[in-house]
Amino acid sequence: MVVNKTKATAAKASLKYINNGMTIGLGSGSTMYYFLEELGNLVQSGLHIEGVPTSKRTEKWALDFGVPLTELARDTVIDVAIDGANQVDENFHLLKGGGGSLVREKIVAASAKELIILIDDSKCVSRIHDADLPVEVLPFGWEKTAMAIEQQGYDPILRYKDGASFISDNGNYIVDCHIRTLEAPLKVHQQFKKLTGVVDTGLFIGMADRVIIGKEDGAVEKRN
Ligand code: A5P
Repeated sequence: MVVNKTKATAAKASLKYINNGMTIGLGSGSTMYYFLEELGNLVQSGLHIEGVPTSKRTEKWALDFGVPLTELARDTVIDVAIDGANQVDENFHLLKGGGGSLVREKIVAASAKELIILIDDSKCVSRIHDADLPVEVLPFGWEKTAMAIEQQGYDPILRYKDGASFISDNGNYIVDCHIRTLEAPLKVHQQFKKLTGVVDTGLFIGMADRVIIGKEDGAVEKRN
């Protein structure tokens, strides 16, 4: 595997926020691979933590690296959630879901005391723009849901993978809606959420507490 230096740098820098005894939300996406590798090394050296994975892929990586896992139950306290993002705007609103794990990621983020996002420079934007907004929808009657989305002025495209409809870990479809410039992320998110058949969107509004930006030269910038 070719190492992505910026992702690996951000992942390493986030370890500072991991302490013994913590329960950690484990986001999805390729950046998490680097984080889980580092976390696994710390576990082998004696760190006691438990992780709550947000996707089957993250679960597999965590197990491969020897990171102990637990479930998200009523009394689970997630001390910190670590995740990636597709874009982060100047108000820390996030566009996520490129990998299709947005719903579980959002549930874990909402349950965490702190959400730390690992990105590179290219994902820092003043406004979320020129991107596909992933919207998870129930398969039942999904074309009707897509029609309702169209009536809101969007052009939902059913996501495909390997020649078949992409199925999320929750058994749902994802439609991607192209966004030119997102002036009012909360309003747009709410517009989708009120549609029957929509489970959630890839907009994470006001959830991130800290952003760690890995740079090409190995430097790290932290914003909070
Ligand atoms: C997964 O559904 C996404 O939300 C990812 O967290 C996001 O797309 C960032 O992915 P990378 O870490 O692969 O850039």
